[in-house]
Amino acid sequence: MSDKLHPVPDEWKSRAHVDRAKYEADYKRSIDDPEGYWGEVGKRLDWIKPYTKVKNTSFAPGNISIKWFEDGSLNVAANCIDRHLETRGDQTAIIWEGDDPKDSKHITYRELHENVCRLANVLKDRGVKKGDRVTLYLPMIPEAAYSMLACARIGAIHSIVFGGFSPDSLANRIEGCESRVVITADEGLRGGKKVPLKKNTDDAIARVGGEVDTVIVVTRTGGDVPMTDGRDVRYEDAVAAASADCPPEEMNAEDPLFILFTSGSTGKPKGVLHTTGGYLVYASLTHELIFDYHDGDIYWCTADVGWVTGHSYIVYGPLANGATTLMFEGVPNYPSISRFWDVVDKHKVNIFYTAPTAIRSLMGAGEEPVKRTSRQSLRLLGSVGEPINPEAWEWYFNVVGERRCPIVDTWWQTETGGILITPLPGAIDLKPGSATLPFFGVQPQLVDAEGNVIEGAADGNLCIVDSWPGQMRTVYGDHKRFEETYFSTYKNKYFTGDGCRRDEDGYYWITGRVDDVINVSGHRMGTAEVESSLVAHEKVAEAAVVGYPHDLKGQGIYAYVTLNAGVEGTDELKKELVAWVRKDIGPIASPDLIQFAPGLPKTRSGKIMRRILRKIAEDDFGALGDTSTLADPAVVDDLIDHRQNRK
Ligand code: PRX
Repeated sequence: MSDKLHPVPDEWKSRAHVDRAKYEADYKRSIDDPEGYWGEVGKRLDWIKPYTKVKNTSFAPGNISIKWFEDGSLNVAANCIDRHLETRGDQTAIIWEGDDPKDSKHITYRELHENVCRLANVLKDRGVKKGDRVTLYLPMIPEAAYSMLACARIGAIHSIVFGGFSPDSLANRIEGCESRVVITADEGLRGGKKVPLKKNTDDAIARVGGEVDTVIVVTRTGGDVPMTDGRDVRYEDAVAAASADCPPEEMNAEDPLFILFTSGSTGKPKGVLHTTGGYLVYASLTHELIFDYHDGDIYWCTADVGWVTGHSYIVYGPLANGATTLMFEGVPNYPSISRFWDVVDKHKVNIFYTAPTAIRSLMGAGEEPVKRTSRQSLRLLGSVGEPINPEAWEWYFNVVGERRCPIVDTWWQTETGGILITPLPGAIDLKPGSATLPFFGVQPQLVDAEGNVIEGAADGNLCIVDSWPGQMRTVYGDHKRFEETYFSTYKNKYFTGDGCRRDEDGYYWITGRVDDVINVSGHRMGTAEVESSLVAHEKVAEAAVVGYPHDLKGQGIYAYVTLNAGVEGTDELKKELVAWVRKDIGPIASPDLIQFAPGLPKTRSGKIMRRILRKIAEDDFGALGDTSTLADPAVVDDLIDHRQNRK
């Protein structure tokens, strides 16, 4: 924690969209009169049929129902492209910066329109209709944005799977939303290395059976990939043959826009469903106000479109606002550790939004790689995905932004659709490490384990008491799971799964997940997923996975593994298990540390006591708490004796 206060610079008070007085007035209005507030904000979009109803939401047990602007109709692609054509057809919509610094291009709104319409027609030709699901498994290339918007244009629901996921994970996600169309690329390119996307897609489809009848393959590297006759289509050939005219489909505000699978405490990843009207209103408003976007600004969010940040703050929010958004294919340390700042200079980036894990790793390389670049164009910095430690915040502020650029530490989730707790750069004094105050319409509440509301300065579990337009509507195909996951722990409120502290100034400090979800380099992973992967290995009898503090990644993955009788726990086997999980789920799920454990601490009823495992992984033995309820307390001593060295 840091008590330092960085007041809003004078220059920002006058130039920003929102100053302190406006923040306070609008926040109050948004809470006292959500209908009035959002009714006005909703007009920032172009509606085919204007809404007359604004908010119809219930968090009541047994009746979780969230509807915004429910009688209005619109099209997301028309809002992100068509409505800008007259005034900014020749303005750059997307700056694409390739993995290789020699590769970059500018795509105007007019070009974006043409590309999206052609692809939309290709999808239609392949029989894709309103409501159908389309899986995207793509690198960070403009075609990823075209694909999202082409789906939105014809009312198809996209489900993006991060290119780092394995064939099995892709297969689960194709099955999970029953899509029969996949858009992929021959190979991805990251840090000079190729990623076999088409091969992975073929492997995934082999696992899901014959449901997938169309695979559209973008040529990225030109690598030689086998094409299946009748099923596989070359993107370039198909769009060249398609018409550039595709009228947007009229969508109800509550029609689905996309599904995004995300990890939870239990079971398989769930399909978070976002809809059309409320989502876009929220993404565009938050993008404009939090990043203080003004016409002509160059905005860069370094996320991947495989995560929600890429959905809301590379594609939908910025494009709805007619912004210029930069899409980066590469990684921060290729070809050199100055890459981010070189890209900032090359494209004169004004607003830069990244994750703490990237900042920490760049910080490790010292100041020189930053200082050799200019960065004079930068005006605002942002952080997302995990708590930012004050040291990293200060480095970002002092070295990268040269004390000139406020940092917006934005807290939100896949489920929330957009940012909920964040500074507004012209309105809110900053404290390093704090996401500060709620955005308009957002009412955070802290509760204790029993659900009692805690007022004032305190620690608790973070809930949100009323709906906001960007909120997820359901778990795809499983509304009961939606209700159980988010609304059953505490009644009548949305439970975020995060712990949080509120200080004397009412500032919020997110302390991390309080459930069995871990956050590795800003990527969300369910411990249960890693466990079920480990126990699927023939030599493993049982596994328990917890997070532990990791200097670069924020959290690392610590796996306790009980082997089958007679199997020897060797270093070789550890490597084998890491490779196993990597292949099964993807590199982001690789355990950092594996401890072979003859027994796991269990209650007499057989429940694994994760609290104890977490404390051992954290080297915090003094805080093990009560171990008397364990079936065999001696297990704990053995675990402590054989704990893995974190350094
Ligand atoms: O624990 C919080 C953390 O990331 C979780 C959400 O992960 P995901 O759905 O993958 O979305 C990440 C990008 C929005 C949250 O429950 N988190 C996200 N942003 C912050 C954060 N923790 C602290 N500070 C943040 N700014």
